[in-house]
Amino acid sequence: MPKSNNDQWQPDLYADKHSFVWKLASPVIELLAPEPSERVLDIGCGTGQLTARIAESGATAVGADHSPAMIEEARQLHPQIEFQIEDAHDFEFDQPFDAVFSNAALHWITNPDKVVNCIARALNKRGRMAVEFGGSGNIHFLAGAIETASQTVFGKRIKHPWYFPDIVDFGTVLRRHGLEVTQAALIDRPTPLEGNDGLRNWVKMFGQHWLTQLATERHDEFLDQIESIARANLFRGSIWQADYRRIRVVARKR
Ligand code: BEZ
Repeated sequence: MPKSNNDQWQPDLYADKHSFVWKLASPVIELLAPEPSERVLDIGCGTGQLTARIAESGATAVGADHSPAMIEEARQLHPQIEFQIEDAHDFEFDQPFDAVFSNAALHWITNPDKVVNCIARALNKRGRMAVEFGGSGNIHFLAGAIETASQTVFGKRIKHPWYFPDIVDFGTVLRRHGLEVTQAALIDRPTPLEGNDGLRNWVKMFGQHWLTQLATERHDEFLDQIESIARANLFRGSIWQADYRRIRVVARKR
């Protein structure tokens, strides 16, 4: 759910090569433990696969994402579920939620206080939040390789745009908005990327921060550089691996 004026998300590339994003989300769904009578908001729902899994529990699930392309695809794939285009920094719903869920989305936010304020406001009294996203140290080698390649190709080091907090920092933001942490973990989860072009495809899908600043005819040069820098740490046997580290948090509204 990046906050940008141009919708750069590509639902086809997302579904074709990055389905691990929702296939590996069972632990956070288990932490959410949705009940049939509940209303649950899925923030950064993408193409809605996890919103649909939450709805399978009998809960009323609502999916929200900043990308019109993703929401259009989500509505087509799951016509029985309500999806809305929303910016995580600035949303409001008429009816409150029993729970807010989010998987692999909150690392795109630029202002955690604004986002957590909206989440807290959206929750019922004693409502809960179960979220997982990139935590402190996430994609250390992958983002480092992109930044180092940017130095060569752009002539200046362009830092990554993501929010990867540790448990203390994120917990402090939650507390400021009346949310009490009940469970928190930082978990290394190296994640295989599909095929020989796995790393390139990852950068094409998620690295628009750099690619949109570079002429299309130079993309291959940039991607070649990234592969060559990352190979020593991220090519394992015959497969690319993203060095993911997740922060997983459950919190309750006081
Ligand atoms: C992640 O899932 O950790 C992630 C995905 C895209 C960009 C940055 C991090």
